[in-house]
Amino acid sequence: MKTKNLGTSWEEIEKAVEILRLGGLVAIPTETVYGLAADATNEEAVSKIFKAKGRPAYNPLIIHVKNTKMAKEYAQWNKAAESLAEKFWPGPLTIVLPSKKNSNIAKTACANLPTVAVRMPSHPVTLKILDQLKRPLAAPSANLSGKISSTSTNHVLKNLNQKIDAIVDAGNSAVGVESTILTFKPKPTILRTGFITPEAISNAMGLKIAHYDEAGPVIAPGQMKSHYCPNANLRLNAKDWRQGEKKLGFGNVECDLNLSKDQSLIEAAQNLFNFLHILDSFDTKTISVSPIPNEGIGLAINDRLIRAAIND
Ligand code: TXA
Ligand code: MG
Repeated sequence: MKTKNLGTSWEEIEKAVEILRLGGLVAIPTETVYGLAADATNEEAVSKIFKAKGRPAYNPLIIHVKNTKMAKEYAQWNKAAESLAEKFWPGPLTIVLPSKKNSNIAKTACANLPTVAVRMPSHPVTLKILDQLKRPLAAPSANLSGKISSTSTNHVLKNLNQKIDAIVDAGNSAVGVESTILTFKPKPTILRTGFITPEAISNAMGLKIAHYDEAGPVIAPGQMKSHYCPNANLRLNAKDWRQGEKKLGFGNVECDLNLSKDQSLIEAAQNLFNFLHILDSFDTKTISVSPIPNEGIGLAINDRLIRAAIND
């Protein structure tokens, strides 16, 4: 199949909507990373996502909605979810809630779990698509399963060209790492760190939020240890550089690419996946990475780097 390259004019957005309405796959821009979208109410369309990505069927997808009202059609809400959505939506927060009994979300999208992960993205183009389509979109990150996420259409095409119907090009993703995922059961727990920090969520909720590794048995089906992997090995917390390695720096260091000379974690998150894609394209054996402070958005950056370093 030839992958159509669409821009962000009204006509092109309408084309993307038409493809989605007919059960096709479209890579869409979000503020975090590019997503690989299908109509979340169409089983057959959703199963094409799993096939294109090589994603295991047990790993559920995030359901993207145009507003809280739409999210409430599919999930059973609680007061805390209400106030978090009010504060952080549209934006990079995904909330896991019990599914509504009569929900028409494809079972495949939720991997047959009794819960659903919902998020209202803030990218204006994807909000327009959701508004026109009038249906929710199931959308994982637009990369092959286990590989580096995509923050530009170049990255998407590298993996998914000719496997998807279209791609909507809206330039580089602003945030650069995926949304924070929060669940309420058995207690409020962050399943995946992201741009919205544990402190921000704890402050908004007025209580300390647990991290999934403190929460006992694995409750996040997609939190595989190995993820976001380049072909090269990663050497993390590199305080010196070794010959033959590609060097991904942070702060005032000499290196091949610098995540942020000014030590801005926001800038580092924006650059992270793009720089991993670039350094990996040199077919180097090892990419070494400077230490990144493990605070704020640095938690999400280190989470991605640690998983990217596990190559199995
Ligand atoms: O920023 C993002 O969240 C991006 C953009 C495209 O929205 N999406 C994204 O999707 O990162 P994906 O599929 O790469 O990661 C979704 C994660 C997976 O780890 C999955 O296991 C988890 O969300 N998830 C989805 N539904 C869940 C559920 N019902 N319970 C627990 N975890 C769930
Ligand atoms: Mg992903």
